[in-house]
Amino acid sequence: MTILAGIDIGGTKCAVCLGRLTSDGVTVIGKQAYPTPSTPELAMQSFIQGLETLALQHGVERFASIGISCGGPLDSRRGRVLSPPNLPGWDDIDVITPLKERFGVPVAVQNDANAGALAEWKWGAGKGFSNVIFLTFGTGMGAGLILDGRLYSGTNDMAGEVGHMRLAEDGPVGFGKAGSFEGFCSGGGIAKLARSMAETKLAGGPGPLFCPTKEELDAITTLKVGQAAQQGDVMALEVFRIVGRQLGRGLALLVDILNPERIVIGSIYGRQQNLLEPVALEELRREALSHSTAVCEVVPAALQESIGDLACLSVALNVLNG
Ligand code: BGC
Ligand code: NA
Repeated sequence: MTILAGIDIGGTKCAVCLGRLTSDGVTVIGKQAYPTPSTPELAMQSFIQGLETLALQHGVERFASIGISCGGPLDSRRGRVLSPPNLPGWDDIDVITPLKERFGVPVAVQNDANAGALAEWKWGAGKGFSNVIFLTFGTGMGAGLILDGRLYSGTNDMAGEVGHMRLAEDGPVGFGKAGSFEGFCSGGGIAKLARSMAETKLAGGPGPLFCPTKEELDAITTLKVGQAAQQGDVMALEVFRIVGRQLGRGLALLVDILNPERIVIGSIYGRQQNLLEPVALEELRREALSHSTAVCEVVPAALQESIGDLACLSVALNVLNG
């Protein structure tokens, strides 16, 4: 029986998990999730402790490999995380050596979007296709590119850093850049956009659901904007219309450049699909060449809540298969 270990390093949450390899996938047998520790050193300690605890709890004597999924930019060949925008303080951090020393098994790290792409391609909405793009659309925005039936990671692992692309002259800031793809299409971006619109409205008088005081303004989250929009709040709906439109622009660039068969979008897209999909697809069809859009389907991620676990476990599996 092959047991794989996974570590998911995110901007807000981290998780460690163990998975059992089956004939058609991986079954998660144990998991621990917790807020991201304040420093990389504490985080590395928590991963080691977490995996030790899980192994003990589930009677696992040994796992075959460890896969790490983490927001980039990172260098998977050197096993180093290089100051991701959503992980302040993680500057050129070696995430491999401490784990190798403790557990004595192969360890690999992949960009979270690449890892998510591998998981959705092997086991989810990208299964059976050769050209699949996966977009994270969570805390950050990143892409994993499966091209001609393999992961494409670029010259130095930077392929798919689409969050950095500028889509508009102005807009919420992502990667220190106003109007970037991550600026609009990410958890932080949606909240920022809603905040700035609510602020304008505050000056002009209260609105239906967002009638913010200064405190309420600071407390606006993507979740709240989503709930307000689902209840028909005019301003929240406008936020999602703007975000959907920019998502469509981002999709159009990817479709024109890469001519994929499937684009799989994670996290926020699945939760707010009814708000985002119509606007995004309309914009995509308007902006990209029709020969390309005709063959490309845009779908939400199929692995849903387990995508984080399966993403790092797919990295663990990859390192075993060489
Ligand atoms: C990072 C990407 C990552 C994405 C999703 C972006 O800010 O630059 O590498 O894939 O967030 O976490
Ligand atoms: Na990527």
